[in-house]
Amino acid sequence: MRSASEVGPGRAPAAPLGMPGPGGGPAEVPAAADAGPEEGMADRIDAALLERVDRYVQELLVPADAALDEGLREAAAAGLPDIAVSPNQGKLLHLLARLVRPTRILEVGTLGGYSTTWLARALEPGGRLVTLELDPHHAAVARRNLARAGLDGRVEVRVGPASASLRAMAAAGEGPFDVVFIDADKQTYPEYLDLALDLSRPGAVILADNVIRGGRVLDPSSRDPMVQGVREFNARLAAHPRLDSIILPILRDQLDGVSISLVRA
Ligand code: SAH
Ligand code: DHB
Ligand code: MG
Repeated sequence: MRSASEVGPGRAPAAPLGMPGPGGGPAEVPAAADAGPEEGMADRIDAALLERVDRYVQELLVPADAALDEGLREAAAAGLPDIAVSPNQGKLLHLLARLVRPTRILEVGTLGGYSTTWLARALEPGGRLVTLELDPHHAAVARRNLARAGLDGRVEVRVGPASASLRAMAAAGEGPFDVVFIDADKQTYPEYLDLALDLSRPGAVILADNVIRGGRVLDPSSRDPMVQGVREFNARLAAHPRLDSIILPILRDQLDGVSISLVRA
């Protein structure tokens, strides 16, 4: 059976991770500082092994799904960038959302509706998802994909800069939301966090994609506005009195991460 990761470009096995090794070769991270050279496969973690583990998990636990796979194909055919969450991360988002038994979900950054589909399938009966997208072409592709997935009655795609949409939602008294997923322009993540908090109920979960970026977030002197935005976002998660947070490293085309935050009362 065809698996979701075989759809579209950019999911080639053994893609190099973002952090090169000392010689500029593939990343190699010691699994344990004191592991000897004879420990076998588990004593070194390299990109190819991570890729095989990710594929193993996917084949075991993330079966091919017609609506999700077709949505990725349609997005690629429409020229959208290949930057949706991976199948395994989609399932992670879905499961984390389901734990909250959500009736209202908010997404920032729709693209072709791939993560939207995973999240919308976590809604309780009668629940609704609002997803915010700047690019009208992306939004149009997403609407078609969501309709094909049978989710058009439960999902609303709103076009415009997400900051403005979020402010309008807060001003209109929309929400509160049970789950928020942040995945739009990285330099604006700190602002999205504040706005997401304004729109979240106590007990809500706030999730954010791409908070590791191949390890580039480790560099405090980076002048990349995306890295700076994500570093500031991560620092605010750590310092925020209303949030209990963790970051889960996750395998994409590069090593990346998803943040998980629980909103306190
Ligand atoms: N969540 C999607 C991927 C989103 S990619 C998935 O995993 O399937 C990021 C999206 O954010 C792109 O579609 C991009 O057009 C959108 N975006 C970028 N800047 C934005 C902004 N200021 N407001 C809203 N959306 C924005
Ligand atoms: C980019 C954006 C994403 O949301 C992502 O998951 C991967 C890459 C990007 O803008 O490069
Ligand atoms: Mg992303």
